[in-house]
Amino acid sequence: MSAIRLIRVLFYGAATQRGATKTQVRRVWSGCSSRSSLCGQEGAQRGLSLTAAASQFELSLTKPPVSGVVSSKLWNDMLEVKFGDGTEGRLPFVWLRDNCQCSQCFSVEGLGRKFLIDDLDVEVQPTKVEESMQGLTVKWSDGHQSEYSTNWLQNRAFTPSSRALHREKYALRKEQWGAEHRIKDFDYNTLMSNERVLLDWLLTMERKGSAMVRNVPQKDVAGQELIEHIAFVKQCHYGPHSPVINRPNSNNVAFTNAKLGLHNDLPAYEHMPGIIFIQCLAQHPGAGGESIVTDGLFAAEELRRKRPEDFKILSSTDMYFWDKGHANYSWEMPEFYKIAKFPVIKVNGNNEVVQIAVSNTTRDSHMDLPPQEVKKYYAAYKRFYIILSANAMTFKMEQGDMMTLDNVRCLHGRESYDADSQRHIETSYLDWDEARCRRRRLQEKFGCFI
Ligand code: OGA
Ligand code: ZN
Ligand code: ZN
Repeated sequence: MSAIRLIRVLFYGAATQRGATKTQVRRVWSGCSSRSSLCGQEGAQRGLSLTAAASQFELSLTKPPVSGVVSSKLWNDMLEVKFGDGTEGRLPFVWLRDNCQCSQCFSVEGLGRKFLIDDLDVEVQPTKVEESMQGLTVKWSDGHQSEYSTNWLQNRAFTPSSRALHREKYALRKEQWGAEHRIKDFDYNTLMSNERVLLDWLLTMERKGSAMVRNVPQKDVAGQELIEHIAFVKQCHYGPHSPVINRPNSNNVAFTNAKLGLHNDLPAYEHMPGIIFIQCLAQHPGAGGESIVTDGLFAAEELRRKRPEDFKILSSTDMYFWDKGHANYSWEMPEFYKIAKFPVIKVNGNNEVVQIAVSNTTRDSHMDLPPQEVKKYYAAYKRFYIILSANAMTFKMEQGDMMTLDNVRCLHGRESYDADSQRHIETSYLDWDEARCRRRRLQEKFGCFI
């Protein structure tokens, strides 16, 4: 059995052939969709398994255009189409009508739907379907006529592979790591001047959540300038960058010489900063000031495996985080009073971990819990913290180093240091939406969507 047939049987089953109506076939022209800027990159799926699709995507640079839609059958409120390369897809009528690509329904300039849901008949049916080497033409029960190009359709054909490919475009798969992890090095000037290296950093950050930038210029805005080279700084009430020094009248425990346990920065923000840039301008020469870093995703998954009840408590109980104070510097907000509320382990609709929020300094003393549940909560939280610590690595940043961390996944901390030390760290933030956006743009530019 060929791979394509095997996939077809696995995902579509034998019922595929039953009750199908063959529609008329009219092959006109062979070629790739001219509208799509992703033309060369689309159509990667060839009936692959989920994992194979992802690795195939990794290797994909340019792909031959798909040669038309060769047949279609009506099947359970769906159009079952077969493409020229042998792959198939099932396209629900309502989805096809909603996504009509004509200029009346879709803005080519704005790349957005003009067709209103008010005008969508969920029970819409095709009255005539024509296949061609260009794609599909469908006449609808509401009187409208739609045309779809082959590549456009194949990329959205609801197959496991097309769905996996788009999932990767949305966000790369994260690779978990433990204490033995070696953080990948990048050179600051190369990152600023070489877009392929910048893409490598973006991919590394998305997959591993951690990287180290070396040879960073000795100025407090070096992190900010790198962020501005990528997109723009995620501001917070501490401004575009924060001197992490032992400040007099410090407005945050981080800006003292105290030890900081493993934490994520700024969980008092409902939308926590995505990537933190921690630049070392001066390190404490003696013992003290060492960094500690751990992969919160690794720890959360270990907790889920070994202590499912703890995972449930931490992922379903909202905690308050707060940050209140006044400016130490002119660029900070004169007064701030933030409160956010979410679980320490945030999961999405697929129960995947999407955010870790741990901060001993800003975890609020207010708890929105009945008192009898508090001790159980602490026990779960403490066991999670023990896993985080057990898989952490310790090292010392030197002058010119800048650690970059996925702030909603990896946790960092630092050892205490002498109160009169000249140690100087600077922090700045970049949001994940901007980082992923730059990654997609570079992948398009280099023709290597992953
Ligand atoms: C911080 C922080 C790290 C350090 O400011 O939030 O974690 O090494 N600083 O001082
Ligand atoms: Zn239309
Ligand atoms: Zn921090």
